[in-house]
Amino acid sequence: MIEAQALTKAYGGHKAVDNLNLKIAPGELYCLLGANGAGKTTTINCFLGFLPVTSGRVLIDGLDVAEKPLEVKRRLAYLPEVVMLYPTLSGLENLDYFSRLAGFRHRTAQLLEYLERAGLPAADAQRRLGDYSKGMRQKVGIAIALAKEAKCLLLDEPTSGLDPGASNDFSQLLRELTAQGMAILMATHDIFRAKDVATHIGIMRAGRLREQLENRGDFEAKELEALYLQTV
Ligand SMILES: Nc1ncnc2c1ncn2[C@@H]1O[C@H](COP(=O)(O)OP(=O)(O)OP(=O)(O)O)[C@@H](O)[C@H]1O
Ligand SMILES: [Mg+2]
Repeated sequence: MIEAQALTKAYGGHKAVDNLNLKIAPGELYCLLGANGAGKTTTINCFLGFLPVTSGRVLIDGLDVAEKPLEVKRRLAYLPEVVMLYPTLSGLENLDYFSRLAGFRHRTAQLLEYLERAGLPAADAQRRLGDYSKGMRQKVGIAIALAKEAKCLLLDEPTSGLDPGASNDFSQLLRELTAQGMAILMATHDIFRAKDVATHIGIMRAGRLREQLENRGDFEAKELEALYLQTV
């Protein structure tokens, strides 16, 4: 569903992503770990089509991102670390606006249901977004992804700055989305959450995928941390 084939992205002579191979099936949540500058955001930006690849291919649902940008966009939802929304509109109005941009016209009841599923109660949905906490804004971002009915979700450090409770709610939501068959790629620095929520974990260093493991619940967060520290 989300696939990189020998993906390389170079800036000048510097390879930010170097021959990356990655495959994420429906129902899988792949956590990408790695130190600052390892190439995680660059990888995500290549999947989004924000950056042209230097060589190799990136595919979403079997479609080459470079060849079918519009079809790919319809299948993809993206949540950055800071979701860009309109502070003077309510959560509900933001969701309505961005859903329309994506070509959907949902009824208010349906929009409220997406927000509710993302963990934002109806009472909050009507409030001005400028007064929201970061966690609440992330929930609107997730609701936008849900309303798009995307098959693939790309997340770049979505829980940084969230309190443990909000982060835990977020993990629960990701579990539900994978259970429903979404394919998810999440860049994160949170080893504990990765262990908690990922089906697969990759560790990048200097643009290369150095370690890859399936999470069968047969290792502790401490062991993952040790592997991370020894890899980066
Ligand atoms: N526009 C750019 N021009 C030149 N080099 C860039 C550009 N964007 C990123 N890089 C370089 O690419 C490498 C990978 O950066 P990237 O942002 O993908 O890392 P990251 O793993 O997301 O790091 P972080 O954990 O800090 O978010 C870094 O060496 C960075 O300096
Ligand atoms: Mg980054």
